[in-house]
Amino acid sequence: MKVTIFGTGYVGLVTGACLAEMGNHIVCVDVDARKVERLEAGDIPIFEPGLEPMVVRNHAEGRLAFTTDAGPAIDHGDIVFIAVGTPPDEDGSADLQYVLAVAKTIGDHIDRYTVVVNKSTVPVGTADRVRAAVAARLEARGVDVPFDVVSNPEFLKEGDAVEDCLRPDRIIVGASSQKAIGVLRKLYAPFNRNHDRMVVMDERSAELTKYAANAMLATKISFMNEIANIAEHVGADVELVRQGIGADPRIGYHFIYPGAGYGGSCFPKDVQALARTAHTVGYDARLLDAVEAVNDAQKSRLFALLSKHFGGKLEGRTIAVWGLAFKPNTDDMREASSRRLMEQLWDAGAKVRAFDPEAADETRRIYGERDDLALVDRPYDALDGADALVIVTEWKAFRSPDFARVKSLLGTPVIFDGRNLYDPVAVEEAGIAYYGIGRGRSV
Ligand code: UGA
Repeated sequence: MKVTIFGTGYVGLVTGACLAEMGNHIVCVDVDARKVERLEAGDIPIFEPGLEPMVVRNHAEGRLAFTTDAGPAIDHGDIVFIAVGTPPDEDGSADLQYVLAVAKTIGDHIDRYTVVVNKSTVPVGTADRVRAAVAARLEARGVDVPFDVVSNPEFLKEGDAVEDCLRPDRIIVGASSQKAIGVLRKLYAPFNRNHDRMVVMDERSAELTKYAANAMLATKISFMNEIANIAEHVGADVELVRQGIGADPRIGYHFIYPGAGYGGSCFPKDVQALARTAHTVGYDARLLDAVEAVNDAQKSRLFALLSKHFGGKLEGRTIAVWGLAFKPNTDDMREASSRRLMEQLWDAGAKVRAFDPEAADETRRIYGERDDLALVDRPYDALDGADALVIVTEWKAFRSPDFARVKSLLGTPVIFDGRNLYDPVAVEEAGIAYYGIGRGRSV
């Protein structure tokens, strides 16, 4: 099938590559000429396992092209995806200007039946606004071209995006037109081989489904962080509690890992946007507000532990940080907990020596060169002359360190384990003081 995709961020690029992989012909449009140039040259601007070879191969085989030229691109597609960003406004609601600008462009160019598919995470009611924006442009052109708008939210996880896209656990299609549903059924047929994963519903329910999924996952994390904080006060170990509750299949083991708070481009933004939506329709979303507040406090937890350990005197100290990305297997630093920690350390006059397998360049791009930040190429180099080691992101490479080496490199050996990777007893037996998240038994 012929598909056009607006936006070459995570969602647009991964969707484009996976649809091309299934034999479709895809044209991806982006306003950023440099990015388009890089993509055409096979240079992928994001780190996402499996994505680069897939983009390069499908591009070489003529099924995947990149352009800044919207007109011919819209001409190409029978299906046009909108996968552009919806950054938060100052008040936390999703900013729809890019989505609506694409809708207008689509209205400016279509001249045969087109299915407009919204993949961006957008507030409930956006499908109607997209429909109105396309219709207004058609009216201005004085033409009557049939089109449908479908809400088809994405559930990709960074780091697993290609896999999630090729093997989705569900495909949500929000549409009121049987014709459009039929077109998407055909497009997604290759992803539906073993059993039908398509869940068809109205547009508003599809839009809310996306927010509800992320808000539920964020709620599980904040809930666990709250239990961790209680555990610390009552002298319990949240890691044992986690295993104890996860065994109940109604609760499950997923997304109940306490830590330094959730980050990324999705949870913080989506929880806030859903709360905003609720407030604007007159509903006081107390639970969502609390999820957000607990997470915000949790992001300061590591600094609080460090500050307490060093008696409030962090000035002149050097803190080694392992892990900067908001989670493993990505170079994404958006809303990463490491940022809060580093900024608090700098404010307190401390220096940071950090190692991350992928996110060093991104960190450099955000903070520039500064005297109080050293980004090193090897994990143990971060410990050189440092007073403490803090784990912020749980990359696999940090799971079983050489504790003897850690001890010999640190001045006053102490580990702040922001992801509860280690056995506190083993660390303490190695002669290193240990702080975890919610591990009251050991501290
Ligand atoms: C999230 C959802 O998991 C995807 O299903 C969704 O499609 C995506 O948002 C989106 O809306 O596009 P993502 O943000 O890539 O995906 O990352 P997650 O793996 O969900 O992790 C989010 C954050 O939660 C990370 O900072 C992670 O460290 C934290 N987390 C996760 C915890 O603190 N504890 C956990 O138990 C799990």
